[in-house]
Amino acid sequence: MQLTQSSVGRKIIMAVTGIVLVSFVCVHLLGNSSIFVGADAINAYAQKLHSLGPFVWVFRLVMLAAFAIHIVFGIQLTLENKAATPESNMQVKRLKTGFGAETMIVSGGVIFFFVVYHLLHFTVRVTNPEIYVPLGDQGMVNVYFMMVNGFKGALPVIAYVAGLIFLFLHVGHGIQSLFQTLGLSNDKSLPVMGMFSQLVGFVLLVGYVSIPLLIVAGLIKI
Ligand code: HEM
Repeated sequence: MQLTQSSVGRKIIMAVTGIVLVSFVCVHLLGNSSIFVGADAINAYAQKLHSLGPFVWVFRLVMLAAFAIHIVFGIQLTLENKAATPESNMQVKRLKTGFGAETMIVSGGVIFFFVVYHLLHFTVRVTNPEIYVPLGDQGMVNVYFMMVNGFKGALPVIAYVAGLIFLFLHVGHGIQSLFQTLGLSNDKSLPVMGMFSQLVGFVLLVGYVSIPLLIVAGLIKI
């Protein structure tokens, strides 16, 4: 497909914002993993984050901007690809490989709705107000109780597992794609990048999914 200069620019920005987002998802998993150590560990981690004050808001704004740009450019590029001539579409099909690659816009859309639901669940705290227990008298929430209580119902567990499967699909192709866009891969290294991409997606899937599943299994409990 003949890429216009502006779509090349947008692809590069998508790659850069993709790096920012996937870095966040990896760091967030590391932070959440402190639940495996125990209630004190995850609560101390949450308290540390909240104590950063204005930096938290700067970080949130950067993340929000990266998320919004990634979504808008992703939609634009998908529409451009669809509007391309039949011949160039055939070429695009040949270049793309696998289910993850073909469904990036769908998995991206599901992740968007997952993140909105997740923020309403744990950050804005409106979907399940019954799961919150205060910690101390500084207006903090007991994050350990919130997580364990938050995965008591079947619905949130199903929503998280489904959302995380789509995250696996998206990241599993996205990392390989960004290496290609940034010119960091060639014909020889591309399959290795593909495997690396799938591996990162898989580690994220197993790491994240194990939190609700261990809670459901009663291995993480109050
Ligand atoms: C089992 C999976 C997950 C669990 C248990 C989890 C847990 C949490 C918790 C407890 C918070 C609130 C922290 C606090 O206010 O103290 C939070 C915030 C957040 N999570 Fe997750 N998370 C999960 C997966 C994800 C994924 C896959 C994404 C992104 C795709 C994500 C994105 C966010 C964002 C953007 C915030 C808001 C951060 C902020 O307040 O600045 N989470 N998560």
